[in-house]
Amino acid sequence: MKKISSDTVRADFNDLLAVVHYTRAAHELGLWKSERILIERFFPDLSVPLLEAGCGAGRVTLGLWELGYRQLTGFDFAEELVDQAQSLAIERQAAGPAGIRFLHADATALDKCPQISDLPFGGALFMFNGLMQIPGRERRRTALCELHRVCRPGAPLLFTTHDRDSTPTERALWRLEALRWERGEQDPKLVEFGDRYFEEAGTGRTFMHLPDRAEILADLAATGWSHEFDAMRTEITKEPRAVLDFSDECRFWVARKI
Ligand SMILES: C[S@@+](CC[C@H](N)C(=O)[O-])C[C@H]1O[C@@H](n2cnc3c(N)ncnc32)[C@H](O)[C@@H]1O
Repeated sequence: MKKISSDTVRADFNDLLAVVHYTRAAHELGLWKSERILIERFFPDLSVPLLEAGCGAGRVTLGLWELGYRQLTGFDFAEELVDQAQSLAIERQAAGPAGIRFLHADATALDKCPQISDLPFGGALFMFNGLMQIPGRERRRTALCELHRVCRPGAPLLFTTHDRDSTPTERALWRLEALRWERGEQDPKLVEFGDRYFEEAGTGRTFMHLPDRAEILADLAATGWSHEFDAMRTEITKEPRAVLDFSDECRFWVARKI
């Protein structure tokens, strides 16, 4: 059986079900309260060029535009979602030469997209677990290195992960999964321990790696990012029902380019 690869993940995000799901969120949901709090805290300068990796249909990018950021580049490797983001920017008068720049690019190979290397970014974001949807720890580290390369020293990086050990139930489930890996009985499509590949009504198929905190701290240290902050979303604020329906609890991370 073939292992999950970036082609699998891209195809899942280009699937109609996922496109409708993320487009609706971009049109109707916008920034979560927690995202807005952390963006305003760690990205205080509205004039700095920002790079949003895995922008999807533009939920966060358009949210940044509405907060007043004016030098925005969003990119995603799922072309259907980039098209949706571009349409939304036109609808919200955020397109054109002075508007948001949306690009089609893979976070693990930004050198293939010359427009991304044309200026050093003053900050980067990879929201709603996008980094964790890259299969394989080495490839996630490559993405962290690539974001590091295109940012200027001192630039903040904001991203989220989904803890695999935050509740007693999850810890028990992952202990069982560890036994499956020990016996070689895990789902053969998975790449590493911590991976999940699941299907949800209304969202489609989703690949996600669930790390523990130590893994992310090691990945940041190995890729030139200095850890500055991390906290669970519920520790930051109480989200409205619509956000809770759209997304599970997550851990926010802020790192800074050394
Ligand atoms: C959960 S979605 C979040 C979309 C959007 N940021 C939001 O919050 O609504 C994760 C996004 O990351 C993108 N993504 C995953 N791996 C990527 C990669 N290697 N390069 C670029 N985009 C990637 C997916 O295509 C998807 O649009």
